[in-house]
Amino acid sequence: MIGGDRYETRRVLVIDDNEAIHQDFAKILGGSSGPDGGLAEVEAALFGDEPTMKPLGTFEMDSAFQGRDGFRMARVAREEGRPYALAFVDVRMPPGWDGITTIEHLWSEDPTLQVVICTAYSDYGWDETLQRLGSPQNLLILKKPFDSAEALQLAYALSEKWRLELLIQKKIDELDRAVASQAEKLSEQRRELQTAHSQLLQSQKLEAIGQLAAGIAHEINTPVQFVADNLLFLQDAFGGLTNLITAHQRLLGASRAGPAPAEALADVDSVVAGMDLEFLMSEAPQAIEQAGDGVQRISKIVRSLKNFSHPGGEALRLSDLNEAIESTITVAGSEWKYVAEVVARYDPNLPLVSCVLGEFNQVILNMVVNAAHAIKDVVGDSGEKGTITVTTRADGQWVEITIQDTGAGIPPDVRAKIFDPFFTTKEVGRGTGQGLAIAHSVVVSSHHGKIDVESEVGHGTVFTIRLPIEQDSALAG
Ligand SMILES: Nc1ncnc2c1ncn2[C@@H]1O[C@H](COP(=O)(O)OP(=O)(O)O)[C@@H](O)[C@H]1O
Ligand SMILES: [Mg+2]
Repeated sequence: MIGGDRYETRRVLVIDDNEAIHQDFAKILGGSSGPDGGLAEVEAALFGDEPTMKPLGTFEMDSAFQGRDGFRMARVAREEGRPYALAFVDVRMPPGWDGITTIEHLWSEDPTLQVVICTAYSDYGWDETLQRLGSPQNLLILKKPFDSAEALQLAYALSEKWRLELLIQKKIDELDRAVASQAEKLSEQRRELQTAHSQLLQSQKLEAIGQLAAGIAHEINTPVQFVADNLLFLQDAFGGLTNLITAHQRLLGASRAGPAPAEALADVDSVVAGMDLEFLMSEAPQAIEQAGDGVQRISKIVRSLKNFSHPGGEALRLSDLNEAIESTITVAGSEWKYVAEVVARYDPNLPLVSCVLGEFNQVILNMVVNAAHAIKDVVGDSGEKGTITVTTRADGQWVEITIQDTGAGIPPDVRAKIFDPFFTTKEVGRGTGQGLAIAHSVVVSSHHGKIDVESEVGHGTVFTIRLPIEQDSALAG
């Protein structure tokens, strides 16, 4: 097995056209099968009499007399899963491949093979050899005639190097696989998190819409009511006017035939007396105007609702944030209008901003609702009102949105936690602690923006949201 037992048999291939060389190698390698064999001699030669080296294993030597044969044997050995660790290769082996060509072939098959070039000639200079073979870390040169101990030591050292290299490669492969599977797990978790995140966004949005629904129904109902009242008044008035016109037409017809008959005149007088003409003349235009206003208010709310729950609002696109904010403020009207005035200062030159509008709307909604709650904590049911000030501003590659309230402010010990999921200081039903966690994730994670908060207890709070105008430049920067 590759890279297995340290004491296993290592396979060595000797490629040389000289029969005598093979016999030499057989003696050197074969006689070393234990500590009592050639190794002991080598040990003695290297380290004196003290036997300090442990046997590293035995060698199994194969012979080839031509480069081409050696190459074939190496291929078969690999195919059988018993590759050679080391090859001793002669330089000149007429009539076939020379040693360098042979090594090129061997390495094209197995780059891990350790090679010792055995040469008596200076056929190639070291430089030229390196240039041709390009893998000098697995190559050594042994000058003939060589010393047995040197050859044996080379065989040990190089086969051990081969084993360790394979072992390292195996470890690296294992590590690579472990890393890859860990990465796969991580990206799986990331996908799950993303799904959970978008589900959370969705459910918070639905919750908000549910919460707002009653308020919105009320918002629409009020103008509908006075449009209906005004229409009823105008219907009445129109009935009276119809009678008046009929009486007038009769009078006109009679007057054309001769002098106006007294009863036709009396008829007109009695119709006029029966209706409060002066009141009608002054009230009708107002009623029409009020009905018009009411219809406009309704259509603004409907338009805002449509903007707020913008279909396709889940995609990144260039968006008019002023319009989005205005719509969100309108939709949230029932949340703030009894406790606050909203002052909006929109930058008329605000560029379109690349963002996911549905998510952005939700952030503004959460902030406005928080501001209204904070003001309510101050004004209670006194009927007094605080102020929520919303501004937009372009600033280079960024837009800045501030939401300021004159509410209770955030105590310093609370401030560190407000963006934590599920952190709330509100009673159940009023707060879930999700609003700012979602705002943070939408602004910072999804849109590469920033949220800052400044607050003073007893004075109020300012949230500042900064968004990059283009998402690409934010990613690059
Ligand atoms: N404008 C604000 N003024 C004062 N406190 C705020 C304001 N906005 C957020 N907070 C504090 O941060 C907490 C977390 O807010 P949020 O995540 O929206 O959750 P929730 O509103 O459901 O409590 C609130 O409970 C509140 O204590
Ligand atoms: Mg909130």
